[in-house]
Amino acid sequence: MTIKTVATRPFEGQKPGTSGLRKKVSVFQQPHYLENFVQSIFDALGGIAGKTLVLGGDGRYHNREAVQIILKMAAANGAARVLVGQGGLLSTPAVSAVIRKYGTSGGIVLSASHNPGGPDGDFGIKYNIDNGGPAPEKVTEAIYARSLQISEYRIIDAPDVDIDVIGDSTLAGMQVAVIDPVSDYAELMASLFDFAAIRAWFAAGHTACFDAMHAISGPYAIRLLEQTLGAPRGTVINGTPLPDFGGGHPDPNPAYATELIDRMSAADAPDFGGASDGDADRNMIVGRNLVVSPSDSLAILAANATLVPAYAGGLKGVARSMPTSCAVDAVAKQLGIAAYETPTGWKFFGNLLDAGKVTLCGEESYGTGSDHVREKDGLWAVLCWLNLLAATGKTVNRIVEEHWARFGRHFYSRHDFEGIATERADALMAALRGKLATLPGQTLHGLRVVSADDFAYTDPIDGSVSTKQGVRVVFDGGSRVVYRLSGTGTEGATLRVYLERYQPDSAQHGVPTQQALLDLIAISRELADIAGHTGLTEPTVVT
Ligand code: G6P
Ligand code: ZN
Repeated sequence: MTIKTVATRPFEGQKPGTSGLRKKVSVFQQPHYLENFVQSIFDALGGIAGKTLVLGGDGRYHNREAVQIILKMAAANGAARVLVGQGGLLSTPAVSAVIRKYGTSGGIVLSASHNPGGPDGDFGIKYNIDNGGPAPEKVTEAIYARSLQISEYRIIDAPDVDIDVIGDSTLAGMQVAVIDPVSDYAELMASLFDFAAIRAWFAAGHTACFDAMHAISGPYAIRLLEQTLGAPRGTVINGTPLPDFGGGHPDPNPAYATELIDRMSAADAPDFGGASDGDADRNMIVGRNLVVSPSDSLAILAANATLVPAYAGGLKGVARSMPTSCAVDAVAKQLGIAAYETPTGWKFFGNLLDAGKVTLCGEESYGTGSDHVREKDGLWAVLCWLNLLAATGKTVNRIVEEHWARFGRHFYSRHDFEGIATERADALMAALRGKLATLPGQTLHGLRVVSADDFAYTDPIDGSVSTKQGVRVVFDGGSRVVYRLSGTGTEGATLRVYLERYQPDSAQHGVPTQQALLDLIAISRELADIAGHTGLTEPTVVT
């Protein structure tokens, strides 16, 4: 086996976004494209000689090819050992758990998360550091900078490694350990939750439906829910991971997880519904005819955390991304714990978790998690909810209604305008930023603006500053309209408009969400002149 040094030239645009480098599969299939980026990661880390890495992905199209390339490049770059999930599979939270359990230097996740897969779909790659979490911006910037300078990469000339059989082998002196993708993660879950109570809940005849959306959460959910906790077979639907996710869009929201939504509104609906995305880090929680908003889910888990064994001693603090509703802040206030507001992107929670400032974190984009790993964790959220149901004997709907009665309801919705030409989206944001100084004090549709700014964040642990993280306009009574451009798309730009209204009066809690937000919706369209800039008069997705 020989180490080849291959001459290459930089590709434009290998800049990691909110969560790694995501591009069309055809982009990744260009000769040297993946190799350049992988070598840029290794170089930006100061080399990987003697290091141990974790490697796995969500099984989407191009996963297996990418795993072979990365193994051969890791060997050529002198890595000591790579732990790779059997079949090249590992969910994102499982990568995080494995990095932490075995104390490796980091890991590589192959996924484009909730973006569609298949030959015409998306592929993605990101690097996670030794705490198990996504690399912080200073690392992703160094990777990008390196990608613009790269002139060669190293790779072993060798036959493919057998990644389908669990066990150890060597590749040009590097140890390759093929591991069961589920075991370490399942063991961690068993250490956090009251499995006996959940088992008893199922044994008493309660039912659940978990939609794996043909993505990587399937094997994890089948092992945990059906094989460990005694949920009836068939509880997990769409449980076999497919390279193209069955042609679907593996994003657990009401617009895409329609099979689950239909089941949960049927006359014989199960007691609990859950879903997860392509790489199993997102979650949606559903009761009968009720989708729990991710912001509410975070708040409810925070308010009830002590019912879960791992959090029985109370929470250190909580964190949410800026566009996530302030529901969890209300809980933190009552509990007397700190609540942090960070930019969008799980990586911003890493320092707070490492420093022991927070225990639970969440985002409006269907992400919830805790300090057990450094990624959001879809199945963890599902198990948390099952633990609450088992511990209280209440239904999902009752838990939600009681929460609103106690803390008030934060009505919340996100309106997405997809497929906008990048220049137009940029122009819209620039125009909006230009107006910010004049907004405070103005009254729009009867609502007085109390503040308007472009969110900037100074990390309280390392002092790093992130600017331009979204425009927020706050009204009397705490209602908010927030605008930002998505950082995870691969085609054009997506404008996200986040709408929030606080309603303390229980008599108003049953109003349909879109109705409760009507004036804010009108304000959001006019203020940014969305139709004028984009030609779109209605959002393409509402969650
Ligand atoms: C990924 C990240 C999340 C983030 C989300 C935002 O899922 O892991 O932490 O909230 O992207 O996506 P956006 O498209 O709004 O930038
Ligand atoms: Zn994901």
